[in-house]
Amino acid sequence: MTCVAVVGSQWGDEGKGKVVDLLSEGADLVVRFQGGNNAGHTLVVGGESYALHLVPSGILHPGKAAAIGNGVVVDPDVLIGEIEALAARGVEVSPRTLTVSSAAHVIMPYHRALDAAREAAGPGRVVIGTTGRGIGPAYEDKASRQGLRMGDLLLPERFASRARSAILEKNALFANLYGLPEARLEELEALRGRWAEKLGPYIGDARAVLREALLAGKNVLFEGAQGTQLDIDHGTYPFVTSSTTLSGGACGGAGVPPGELGRGKILGLVKAYTTRVGEGPFPTELAGGQGDRLREAGREYGTTTGRPRRCGHLDAVAVRTAVALSGISSLAVTKLDVLRGLGALRIAGAYRLDGAELAYMPQDISDLARCEPVYREFGGFTEDISRARRLSDLPSGARGYLDGLEELCGAPLGLVSVGPERGETVMLESFF
Ligand code: IMP
Repeated sequence: MTCVAVVGSQWGDEGKGKVVDLLSEGADLVVRFQGGNNAGHTLVVGGESYALHLVPSGILHPGKAAAIGNGVVVDPDVLIGEIEALAARGVEVSPRTLTVSSAAHVIMPYHRALDAAREAAGPGRVVIGTTGRGIGPAYEDKASRQGLRMGDLLLPERFASRARSAILEKNALFANLYGLPEARLEELEALRGRWAEKLGPYIGDARAVLREALLAGKNVLFEGAQGTQLDIDHGTYPFVTSSTTLSGGACGGAGVPPGELGRGKILGLVKAYTTRVGEGPFPTELAGGQGDRLREAGREYGTTTGRPRRCGHLDAVAVRTAVALSGISSLAVTKLDVLRGLGALRIAGAYRLDGAELAYMPQDISDLARCEPVYREFGGFTEDISRARRLSDLPSGARGYLDGLEELCGAPLGLVSVGPERGETVMLESFF
């Protein structure tokens, strides 16, 4: 039995969808453990593109089991839509193959309304640039014990009493602070009925599914969402998401013991350059034309929101910090092909702050905003690399860049993605 966790080492959008899909081939069970439909994992299979937000990416492999763990927040309408859209394209998603934890929290319409109202509130409020999916408010209710869980959808009386209590405070906020219409219990109860009818068969004990898989010696893949620098505790707070995006998040969010995870592999996703969506400091950001060229070459627009992503040089300080926090055992480098023809390439190997050189990211964003990257320069490459399947197939410019990346990030390469398709990959390690 092997456990493999896949986590983002930057600010999300590292290309986890493709890598999880690829690794799923050897996995028996694929588990999401945190986040919600703020994630957007794009996969290209047989020339067809799939964008998944909640359903674990492994589902595209027939016969694999998938689970949405306790630590995920679920927007039931999005999940229903995704299951139906996959079915329409011939991908089987059934209660036999997908278990949604009864302990996963539900993103309610009032969570989305609150997320949007806060982001639009204007002067006097910190704007995070969230995805607007209600993620933060849902996790807040979970922490303050006002949340509704997927299992509550199956218990009408409990749902009604908890929902009644949850909207008391929200409605006061909506009326007095944001001028929004109140949430109405009857409408929520009607939603519950519809959600229970569609999702009821999928709701179950994801923890037991995982436990049984581990006891039976199966291969389990943990699919992280977002990235290290968006982690609620270790990211660039407050410009972060509301969950634990590190490998350790799988322990809390899915219920895998740390020892099991430690005996397995932790794969850190590294896009060959850096992107960030939303607000917050970004030391290697490229302003103007250079950033625009990278955005167009990499089609860096949000899968979830369509927002243009901020683009910049690879920041090995950020990745090295992620390696340390998640115990990353190898790196999956994605979108190397995007750097083709962009001239000389740079990687930040350290930061300079107040005359000192830093090897790791400082904790405070005011310090981070004052950091100056110390770059190492590489020659770049102009050749098409999409047909490379071994490192030796790569031109020397691409090899030189990868060697520098590996050395500066402080972990060995496990795979390199040279194009969006499953097969467009240089595999350097077997995972299961
Ligand atoms: P939230 O998760 O919607 O609350 O957004 C909080 C921050 O995390 C914002 O800066 C978002 O742009 C960012 N974020 C959330 N999910 C993702 C993701 O999957 N990829 C990249 N950024 C994300």
